[in-house]
Amino acid sequence: MSDNAKLIYDGQEYEFPVVTGSENESAIDIAKLRGSTGLITLDPGFKNTGSTSSAITFLDGEEGILRYRGYRIEDLAEKSSFLEVAYLLIYGELPNQSEYENFTKEITHHTLVHEDIKKILEGFPSNSHPMGVLSSLICALTAFYPDSLVPNRSEEEINLSIVRLIAKMPTFAAWAYKNEVGHPVNYPDNQLDYCSNFLKMMFALPAEKYDADPVVASALDKLLILHADHEQNCSTSTVRVVGSSQASIYASISAGINALWGPLHGGANQSVIEMLEAIKADGGDAKKYLDKAKDKNDPFRLMGFGHRVYKNFDPRAKIIKKAADEVLGKLGVNDPVLDIAKELEYAALNDQYFIDRKLYPNVDFYSGIIYRALGIPTEMFTVMFALGRLPGWIAQWKEMRENGEPIGRPRQVYVGANEREYVSMNKR
Ligand code: SDX
Repeated sequence: MSDNAKLIYDGQEYEFPVVTGSENESAIDIAKLRGSTGLITLDPGFKNTGSTSSAITFLDGEEGILRYRGYRIEDLAEKSSFLEVAYLLIYGELPNQSEYENFTKEITHHTLVHEDIKKILEGFPSNSHPMGVLSSLICALTAFYPDSLVPNRSEEEINLSIVRLIAKMPTFAAWAYKNEVGHPVNYPDNQLDYCSNFLKMMFALPAEKYDADPVVASALDKLLILHADHEQNCSTSTVRVVGSSQASIYASISAGINALWGPLHGGANQSVIEMLEAIKADGGDAKKYLDKAKDKNDPFRLMGFGHRVYKNFDPRAKIIKKAADEVLGKLGVNDPVLDIAKELEYAALNDQYFIDRKLYPNVDFYSGIIYRALGIPTEMFTVMFALGRLPGWIAQWKEMRENGEPIGRPRQVYVGANEREYVSMNKR
């Protein structure tokens, strides 16, 4: 494999170095392109453009491979826990027993939030989408911890912000839900593990005793692992670009939550269930909706299908599909939309349009079915995605800052009006 690439432009030949990563991916380093040729590249959506070199997550879209810090997602989903995976992503290695216990203890003892958060929460109407509440409350942490606004903080100070984020996000998420349903909020219970504590904050009511079902807590822990990072996706790139301006980690994560919200990204898990419900209400005719998805005149897309990088099965979708059968079986839940989803998947995988475009189920296609079986309401699905993705966003923000990366500022090709004189109002 050559270590440089040649460009011939305007009768001149230019050479640029080719960098190769630890998994033999290669990229042309164009840092000197504009300076030597006057040219820039143009790549809407950055489909062919690498924004950074990263040691956190590797995925191979053609082979359907996903690894966090070199560990296979299949092994981590089966053998690890969400907080252990969070530690791995953020600090680069699996924790030993004492590291894990310290990390877990730190997080457990930062789950409580300032009482004034309730005043912010009360300002949101009860029909507020929980993603908007969540990004607002995370950004509000800059007000309660103004030290986080100082750009070059110590590693210890940044680690405290990291612990606060991982500890408080479940509290904010559950409180956003309680605000929406008009129930009183629940305080964290430090006797419980991470997922059981979240479930209790979500579903406990003052008038009833609540014990989280261990089957539900375990399924949730696995789902959070599967969502924990995914290299330079839309929301992670947002976190890195916002962080590159030396904005605080809280402001950067809040921006990532907002980017994830879109239905083409993390919002797809909510859209999938809404789509499956619509198909069910319309008689369950999967083929009719497949035809709509293929019709260029119809804006309808098969939500939960297709991916910018995976041109094979999303490995997470395979694990989640299997987990959906297991969890619904254990909970004795029979959800007709699961059958519709499987029928839709089978039809799409055997349809030339989808085959030609290498469109497969992605992480969002089955996750909503499990969330629903766990009792999570549809409008909270993307919040669950954010809870899982938080360690990945943190790890990527930390790597970007530790690598001293420059502020993210792409260029453009201008196609607007050429220079012209101002025209006074009476002459327009
Ligand atoms: C996530 O990037 C990540 O890693 C994201 C994520 C993560 O973990 O962070 O994996 C999480 O966001 C998963 C994706 C969730 N989104 C959806 O399920 C929404 C439905 N999917 C699509 O909108 C689409 O597939 C995207 C947005 C996911 C990817 O879009 P691309 O890479 O820009 O591809 P494209 O829109 O250019 O589509 C290529 C072709 C087009 O047809 P042609 O113009 O070539 O004829 O495929 C078609 C598209 O019309 N197509 C679909 C389709 N997805 C793509 N047609 C019907 N249904 C679909 N779902």
